Amino acid sequence: MEENLLSIKNAALSLILDAKDDKMLEEIKLQFLGRSGQLTLAIKEITKVPVEERKEIGILANEVKQTIEEALNEQEKILSKKRKQIIFERIDVTNPSVKPPLGHLHLVTQAIEEISAIFSKIGFERVRYPEVEWDWYSFGALNFPQNHPARDEWETFFIKESPHEKYGAMLLTPHTSSGQIREMERKKPPIRMLNIAKTYRRQSDISHVPMFHQFEGLVVDKDIAITHLKGTLDYFVRSFFGKDRKSRIRPYHFQFTEPSFEVDVSCGVCNGKGCKVCKAGWLELGGAGMVHPNVLRAGKIDPNEYSGFAFGFGPERCMMMKEGLKIEDLRILYSNNLDFLEQF
Ligand code: PHE
Repeated sequence: MEENLLSIKNAALSLILDAKDDKMLEEIKLQFLGRSGQLTLAIKEITKVPVEERKEIGILANEVKQTIEEALNEQEKILSKKRKQIIFERIDVTNPSVKPPLGHLHLVTQAIEEISAIFSKIGFERVRYPEVEWDWYSFGALNFPQNHPARDEWETFFIKESPHEKYGAMLLTPHTSSGQIREMERKKPPIRMLNIAKTYRRQSDISHVPMFHQFEGLVVDKDIAITHLKGTLDYFVRSFFGKDRKSRIRPYHFQFTEPSFEVDVSCGVCNGKGCKVCKAGWLELGGAGMVHPNVLRAGKIDPNEYSGFAFGFGPERCMMMKEGLKIEDLRILYSNNLDFLEQF
């Protein structure tokens, strides 16, 4: 009798644990506790047990019944919890999704792409030349006399390398003008070059970074005059800053251009009248000029046959002027600061 009760208990418990839904639980309940259920029948048999064992068997039978009932309740709770979870986890495809974080190009790269596109429309070919360069390309061929103090002006980074017998010291390009000679060596005129590259100078403060960019335009052809330079500058300024903006050239001095100019763009806030942003109506863009005959000669181009113009600006500066950005410390551009970069 005792064995019979225990095996009923075990059978019931294992069935209950396997039950997948309420209907199965209901069937198990009937099978064991129903009117003709296995346990009900077994309990009826207790009357046949000898009197002295009857009490003990009775207690055991009650325990078995209780255990089965508790297991049934417990399994019912587990099943209902699972049902709720499934409802909760069901995906509602009409809900707005969680967007994965998307990156974007660095704001200076964005400016470089835009500048390239503007110049490619008027036939400028984008090139890049070594940024670890010889003195000859950066200074010598650009009409800087040997030991001219202008070499200091650029506060150049020099590479620990014995000087080349023809090209002099090895350095990091302090400006993209080194590309002028490289381009003249690469191809015969007509030349329409846009050299965008990293440039390096020994400077680091709130308005200077040791590594920045420049874009250098060079045009060499027959009968190139200042008007071509002015037209190109106007075209760039209109395309990049907006159709109402104008360019202005002022006399200046560079070793490698004659005459040389500084280029300004009319202020977008006051249109050249003068305001708090620009003070005198114009914002400074960079340098330009007509290619010096000595530079053409260094590039093996006959200055009696050809002439040219060149300009060199900074995309960082252009981008900031366009956006009306006043960056307190320019070094943040290259500091991988996501709070800053994600704004663009
Ligand atoms: N290389 C000059 C600079 O870095 C800019 C420039 C380029 C000037 C071409 C004239 C012509 O300041």
